[in-house]
Amino acid sequence: MRSLIAGNWKMNSLLADGRERAGVIAARAGGADVCDILLCPPATLLGELAARLRGSPVMLGAQDCHAEAEGAFTGDIAAPMLADLGCSHVIVGHSERRRDHGETDASVAAKASAVHDAGLAAIVCLGESAEQRDAGGARDVVRGQLRASVPRSADSTNTIVAYEPVWAIGTGDTATPDNVAALHRNLREDLLDILGDDGAGIRLLYGGSVNAGNAAELLAVPDVDGALVGGASLNVDEFWTIVESGRTA
Ligand code: PGA
Repeated sequence: MRSLIAGNWKMNSLLADGRERAGVIAARAGGADVCDILLCPPATLLGELAARLRGSPVMLGAQDCHAEAEGAFTGDIAAPMLADLGCSHVIVGHSERRRDHGETDASVAAKASAVHDAGLAAIVCLGESAEQRDAGGARDVVRGQLRASVPRSADSTNTIVAYEPVWAIGTGDTATPDNVAALHRNLREDLLDILGDDGAGIRLLYGGSVNAGNAAELLAVPDVDGALVGGASLNVDEFWTIVESGRTA
């Protein structure tokens, strides 16, 4: 499966550097046969990046949305607004939102469903904590999250699953290729079980301290169909090396 490399800029970048970074990536992507690329800047930069990326193969995504399509929810952003701006994807259930905003599997599923209703693709994030890993429960935790966070509206055209062990995010600690292979194989089995044959077409991304040095090895793992990249996506050259490590077919 063709890889997807998604850059999650998190709460980083002002207008000038966001514009510059997106412009360089769009220019490089325009002249290269590379895998699929998605940029997920903070909401403040979505409009600007939509303009920058127009006509380029680089796609635009948001980092979160509300579960309702509109209403009295001060400070929140609805999925149809993101579609209106030109987004194709929305990340939901990132562990930082689960941790800092009390998001649960049920609220993540409601958000993913809202993303689908808006005609966009949801990137549903899952992953065990260090304590859960140390207790030997990674597989069951991730399986439980998958079953409860992926809504009924999911199919291979509108849903991507990102496995991001919480202990690997922003720490420089990556899961070993063997661990990633085992977790992704289990996730694939569960997706086939939930969605039937269509589960084979759902992209499974790995995330957690992916960088220019480890991307090729991680992206070569079976059932790793791309990466969700945080810190390393803020450096154009490093991000581009990761993009070049992805499969093009
Ligand atoms: P990281 O973040 O690459 O900085 O570990 C990944 C993510 O949180 O999506």
